[in-house]
Amino acid sequence: MLTPEQHHQLTKIQHYVAKKLAHDFSGHDINHINRVVTLSKIILKEEPLADEFIVLASAYLHDVIDDKITDNSVQESEQLKSFLTDLALSKSQITSIFSIIESMSYRKNLEQKITLSLEGQIVQDADRLDAIGAIGIARTFYYGGNKKHIMYDPDMIAREKLSEEEYKKSNTVINHFYEKLLHLKDQMNTEKAKELALHRHHIMEQFIDDFKAEWNLKS
Ligand code: ADP
Ligand code: NI
Repeated sequence: MLTPEQHHQLTKIQHYVAKKLAHDFSGHDINHINRVVTLSKIILKEEPLADEFIVLASAYLHDVIDDKITDNSVQESEQLKSFLTDLALSKSQITSIFSIIESMSYRKNLEQKITLSLEGQIVQDADRLDAIGAIGIARTFYYGGNKKHIMYDPDMIAREKLSEEEYKKSNTVINHFYEKLLHLKDQMNTEKAKELALHRHHIMEQFIDDFKAEWNLKS
């Protein structure tokens, strides 16, 4: 249960994030954040041991210091730390939130798997659920268009075992499914997310099959 003060702090945090992401056209806007918060709440219902406030604050803040969103991640982190201090979060709450948002991304876990707190595992699952399924498909094409990636080239083979540097280099949008999205179902941390991932995974498999069938249509 959140205290009235925590409710107030979360509202302020949501406004801070909405302002930071107002100009995002890469699929990481406030609607993505709100969906990740909702998914975190759904997972939280099955995880009574987790600290609800840390989960929700981290869900709101998980993208603001990421270098795909900002050119100056160090400055964003400093700004965020003073914002949270002014909001009267304790040092230990700020440390817990930063340890989650600095290490939960897919890219950062490619070369070594970083151990996350239970709260971090929940937010990571929620973020990954929003990367798959119908919304995941839409975000991936939206992101690919924004970055001027080509949609599909049957001669470009999906890469395996990517380093963080290789992951950042563009490939085709369809290959992003093979290089990341289709792996997420088996990398969920919590039982609830594993369950929710099944249908979303199926939607993507169906989509890829239909996409290729339509691409290869013969007269
Ligand atoms: P994380 O937040 O775990 O670091 P990313 O920022 O790499 O993950 O990806 C977030 C979402 O942005 C992906 O789920 C996908 O929809 C889209 N995206 C990221 N990289 C690519 C890419 N190379 N091609 C297409 N979509 C991408
Ligand atoms: Ni995200």
